Amino acid sequence: MQYASWMEASGKSFIGEILKAAQNHSMISFAGGLPALELFPDQALQRCFERVFEEQGKPALQYAQTSGYHPLREWLAKQHKREGKEVAIEEIMVTTGSQQGLSLVAQTFLDPGDVVLVETPTYLGAVQAFQSFRARMMMVPCDAQGIIPEELEKMLKQVTPKFLYLIPNYQNPSGKIMGLERRIELLRVAQMNDLMVIEDNPYGNLRFEGEPLPDLIELGNNVIYLGTFSKVLAPGLRVGYVVANSDIIEHLCKTKEGVDLHSNTLTQRAVLEFLKEGLLPGHIQSLCSVYRERRNAMVQAIEKHLGDEVEMIIPSGGLFLWARFKKITNSYDYVQATIRQNVLYVPGEVFYPDGRVTSEVRLNYSSSTPEIIEEGIQRLARAIRE
Ligand SMILES: Cc1ncc(COP(=O)(O)O)c(C=O)c1O
Repeated sequence: MQYASWMEASGKSFIGEILKAAQNHSMISFAGGLPALELFPDQALQRCFERVFEEQGKPALQYAQTSGYHPLREWLAKQHKREGKEVAIEEIMVTTGSQQGLSLVAQTFLDPGDVVLVETPTYLGAVQAFQSFRARMMMVPCDAQGIIPEELEKMLKQVTPKFLYLIPNYQNPSGKIMGLERRIELLRVAQMNDLMVIEDNPYGNLRFEGEPLPDLIELGNNVIYLGTFSKVLAPGLRVGYVVANSDIIEHLCKTKEGVDLHSNTLTQRAVLEFLKEGLLPGHIQSLCSVYRERRNAMVQAIEKHLGDEVEMIIPSGGLFLWARFKKITNSYDYVQATIRQNVLYVPGEVFYPDGRVTSEVRLNYSSSTPEIIEEGIQRLARAIRE
């Protein structure tokens, strides 16, 4: 077959390999980014879907507006501020998960060869979305709080990127969070250089410790914000959204028309029912208390079974723990050994678009109980020493 040339450049699909290995029932997987299945509010959602059928009937099954279900956009607009001001409905569009938001942004803004700046390391799905529109990825050096503004400033003297992509809260994969001063400084550099910032925030509400911080879009202009219900409700619903100025939203809608006309309207209506019942805050609270416990279990298991062989970043929210094995050079080399021990992680290399060799790994704790986490880390220790 004559596939498009970028498909060849996209290389091996490690995620596919991992998902295949995860099918094995005795496998303990720390590899996915899955929310805990047992915590999905399935019965409440069932009620919400039923209510949509009972109260709204056939119109809930009709073609609908590309920008999303108006009452849901209204609700979303109230949750956000843009540059300290109220958000208008025209500044919101609903997407099929935030992954579609990433893809629509890429399709709408990128010409082949354009430079996109990303964190070091960064979310693989974003790299995939940007590369499929032929972007050139450049990684901005990061410290414990993410992007270093001085390094960004230096890079902006050399290149003119289309945008900077970042995940300020409980970053995927590193679990890091960007402090308030850093947010302000980063936006100052971005604004001085007319640099558009894509703020991806799937994890911000999964906060175990500390006070909530303002979103970048709240603090500055030139920000496109991506939100999603995947991690706080259920990813299978595929409901995400974009907040940006109305001109950008209009352009994104034009792109979306050619992609899927609109996101599933029945689901948007059911999600709104859930929100209107006021169920989300309590649900997020229970998620946080379970995930906090699982995060603690993972930290303790690592300290117990791997001790000073590992350096880790303890996340204060989100789904992932990022760790570096001190005694090995390439975590990719140990994937087969860990599969033999029936445990999975994602090797750090996957999160560096330059494909560098690293001894880091991403470990997901949200989808395993503390007992399974303990067992899995024990297996991991065995595999690494094998
Ligand atoms: C940083 C980040 N952005 C976007 C997504 C995609 O989420 P959604 O299910 O909303 O498409 C994920 C999913 O893991 C993610 O980690």
